[in-house]
Amino acid sequence: MSEWLIRHAHMLDLSAGVDYTGDILLENGCIAQIGPFLSRRGCRTLDADGLCLAPGLVDMHVHLRDPGLTHKEDIESGCEAAAAGGVTSVAAMPNTAPAADSPETIRYILEKASHAKARVLPVAAITKGLTGKELTDFEALKRAGAVAFSDDGCPVSTAYFMAEAMRRAASMGVPVLAHCEDKTLTRNGLIHEGAVSQALGVPGVPAAAEDVGTARELSLSLSTGAPVHICHVSTAVSVQMIRAAKKMGAKVTAETCPHYFMMTDEKLLACDADYRMSPPLRPERDRLAILEGLQDGTIDAIATDHAPHTAEEKADFVKAPNGVIGLETSLGAGITCLVGQGVMSLPELLYRMSSVPARILKAPCGTLREGGIADIMLFDPQESWVVEPARFHGKSRNSAFKGLRLQGRVQYTFCRGELVYQRA
Ligand code: NCD
Ligand code: ZN
Repeated sequence: MSEWLIRHAHMLDLSAGVDYTGDILLENGCIAQIGPFLSRRGCRTLDADGLCLAPGLVDMHVHLRDPGLTHKEDIESGCEAAAAGGVTSVAAMPNTAPAADSPETIRYILEKASHAKARVLPVAAITKGLTGKELTDFEALKRAGAVAFSDDGCPVSTAYFMAEAMRRAASMGVPVLAHCEDKTLTRNGLIHEGAVSQALGVPGVPAAAEDVGTARELSLSLSTGAPVHICHVSTAVSVQMIRAAKKMGAKVTAETCPHYFMMTDEKLLACDADYRMSPPLRPERDRLAILEGLQDGTIDAIATDHAPHTAEEKADFVKAPNGVIGLETSLGAGITCLVGQGVMSLPELLYRMSSVPARILKAPCGTLREGGIADIMLFDPQESWVVEPARFHGKSRNSAFKGLRLQGRVQYTFCRGELVYQRA
């Protein structure tokens, strides 16, 4: 265990009411002290003049592809990408091979993650093999270390099972993370159904495929009284339904992803599968509704839905699987698009990317408090850079942010009090 004294950093954390330039001492994996001026001999020091310091980001929607799909990503490489993006905790989705539907697989993930550069919060499957037919053993999975339940990517098709999952998860105090999609409406759709899909002559996914799913999960949450977290919101109608459900007292939280607030389906005109994901990029009116939802708090959190796929898999526009990576660009995207355009302040953005997801997952991170865990990151809020996927730390390169200029860049990341990333 090493000690670090980080000096002259602009420390920002709404959850602890911290917004001043000062020093922070990391000791034994914890934040030992925070103050305007600290002195301590014999420990490593870092002069953070000009940098902002915040709780490490908590990305509540990440596909680490481990076990079984490690040609795309694995726990080690995914956590390395996380560290480079200032992310110190990732919720790992269960659509692996095998699916994370057994205590053994949860234990495998946690064991491998114990040596990784970020914390991994395993999300267990709702149904065995993500087939929607039989519920998993929630109690045993939670005991093994699962922090939430989801059938992300293979959404539970039967409302009855989803209601039962919400009830069980609620009784155990863990959230259900819902990928809202009615696959009978998606059919063979590749991109959002609208002007762009028509111009290209490719089958579209109607916004209703997502909205029908959102409506179902909100109704189930209202009727069972159980909480639900809506994943990767991308449509205007879903934003409005979530807003209305919250007004009705539903215990609902929601996340969106940087690609939904930063780009539209016009990107698909390039016929490049690196812009294909589920749910798909939508038209400008949906993007604007997402911004509004973020601004008024209807959408609580920002997550990436980091979904790595190899270049070979992404080569064919039509056959490529859905998904884009995002761990190494989320902070820059948020600063550029949300802070830069006045949608929210920088402290608010950091809060929505760390403290809020930590609270939803009941994880003891996402705060700068003395005695709290030393998961922190430092970034230059002014640095402007162009996204070059070839320089990424994860295994895959399928970024929809390639070539974009972003403002704000991670310089150092500490996880468990250890330096896990330093910008070269
Ligand atoms: C996800 C993946 O690749 O695992 N892809 C995506 O586009 N979000 C699965 C999914 O949620 O469809
Ligand atoms: Zn999903």
